[in-house]
Amino acid sequence: MRLNILITASEAVPFAKEGGLADVVGALPKYLSGRGHDVRVVMPRYYKVDRERYQLRQLPGVLVVPMGIIGNMYCGVHEGRMPGSDVPIYFLEHEDFYGRESLYERDNKGYLDNDNRFIFLSKASLELCKMIQFTPDLVHAHDWHTAAVPLLMNTSYLHDHHLAQAASLLTIHNMQHQGSFYEGAMDVLGIGWHHFTFLELEMDNQVNLLKGGIYHATMLNTVSEGYAREIQTPEYGWGLEGVVRERSGALSGILNGVDYQEWNPEEDRLLPANYSAQDLSGKAVCKRELQRSLGLPEREDVPLIGMVSRLVKQKGIDVLAQALPRLLELDIQLVLLGAGEPWAHFYFGGMAADRPDRFACRIGYDNTLAHRIEAGCDFFLMPSAFEPCGLNQMYSMRYGTLPIVRATGGLDDSVENFNSAQRTGDGFKFWNLDAGALFDTVGWAVHSWYHDSEAIAALRQNAMAKRFTWENAAEKYEGLYLEGMRRKLGEERFQQVLAERSPKRIAPCATTEACLPPA
Ligand code: ADP
Ligand code: GLC
Repeated sequence: MRLNILITASEAVPFAKEGGLADVVGALPKYLSGRGHDVRVVMPRYYKVDRERYQLRQLPGVLVVPMGIIGNMYCGVHEGRMPGSDVPIYFLEHEDFYGRESLYERDNKGYLDNDNRFIFLSKASLELCKMIQFTPDLVHAHDWHTAAVPLLMNTSYLHDHHLAQAASLLTIHNMQHQGSFYEGAMDVLGIGWHHFTFLELEMDNQVNLLKGGIYHATMLNTVSEGYAREIQTPEYGWGLEGVVRERSGALSGILNGVDYQEWNPEEDRLLPANYSAQDLSGKAVCKRELQRSLGLPEREDVPLIGMVSRLVKQKGIDVLAQALPRLLELDIQLVLLGAGEPWAHFYFGGMAADRPDRFACRIGYDNTLAHRIEAGCDFFLMPSAFEPCGLNQMYSMRYGTLPIVRATGGLDDSVENFNSAQRTGDGFKFWNLDAGALFDTVGWAVHSWYHDSEAIAALRQNAMAKRFTWENAAEKYEGLYLEGMRRKLGEERFQQVLAERSPKRIAPCATTEACLPPA
């Protein structure tokens, strides 16, 4: 049976990427399409999305986007394909909103018109359905940037010819960023001020788009089961835990997959040598080359620990900064690649200058180096304060680079702690978010490296055998889509719709049941 799915988001690889959201939106549509669904993706055409390189074709006509008090705004639409597939992707062309170098901010400050930029994206995504004559069964929105979509579908578009029957799913990749704006954004949404209540859209006298999306979406999910539980608590809910708990019957967690075409040490073209679980000799080459390129002493015996991350508090960099002087007293090497908060550039850069024999720091975004760190290191550090899913720990397992993680969200769900008695596990975990716990756990890994090399070899084999496939995740999303349709349409109409497309009756989806929390 073929479902019509519209996916709307603010980023997708390879076109524009700020974080893991882009990896997800770049991969999921292809795997859904592989399961036989008609999937369309829509996102802004940022300045960096090159029309020629991606062979984009301009569609005839313009989209008219009703922007409430601002009046109608217009945009062109370019059509392309998700690379390696025939999934159509539509880019919204609006020079004023999206013709900027960076996606969301300048000098670490969000653009002042982000409310209009992303309300526009949400409305234009829905208007696009008319232009391309697409009638979705479900619209899948991601994070605050398109969180207005479910609320618009329940209000302005409730009787729209193309959208009236469509369910919505909002995937929360990060609860910290909520799209919180001056209340005047209500007039741009144009759905009426009666929706500006604490129950729906109001939070601290501001319009909170994520809150509105959570309230209105037919289905909700996060990118791990652990994070789905966490965001219902004050510690991880960022003030929205109440509204999430209200909707817990619609909430589930689906761990992201890994694009193993991109992240596979056996075929990775960005590495100086390839390797497999059976023959790790290439990994030793990668380690040596990485040490050489970073100016670290070329030592095979020393444990090399890597980290690739946005340098923001979410990733536990303040805790790492506290632990770093003590860590560098150990006989280890550490490499950090990342960009983010200015203090972190300054602090980690300074520490690297002080200890060039033990610590290398590269500030910036560098995909090739990220691959080489995954391959060349022995351990991979992720001391996150919160981590909805996290991709790097999953990449590192495939590369035989053992993750050392704080047990939160997707890190906790994807990494199995080392059990020294049984020689099981595939990484090292700590629970407390403090420098002592971080130091002790790195110390534990380093001690195991020097004194129990057999255990490290066993963990490495376990990690390399583990898979987090998109096939698996896409099947679970399909289950959620069906459940969303069932809830939107009611059982009878749902079965009718499905019967029109496939002869066999669809039973309640096992995968959906499995990923919903117990009632
Ligand atoms: P988040 O989305 O919160 O940043 P994820 O672990 O989900 O965290 O995804 C981060 C993605 O961005 C990974 O693909 C990672 O390799 C990549 N990444 C982050 N920082 C850098 C960097 N400085 N250089 C290269 N890749 C990076
Ligand atoms: C967010 C989260 C990260 C997750 C990514 C993709 O950026 O911080 O944990 O892996 O989204 O879902």
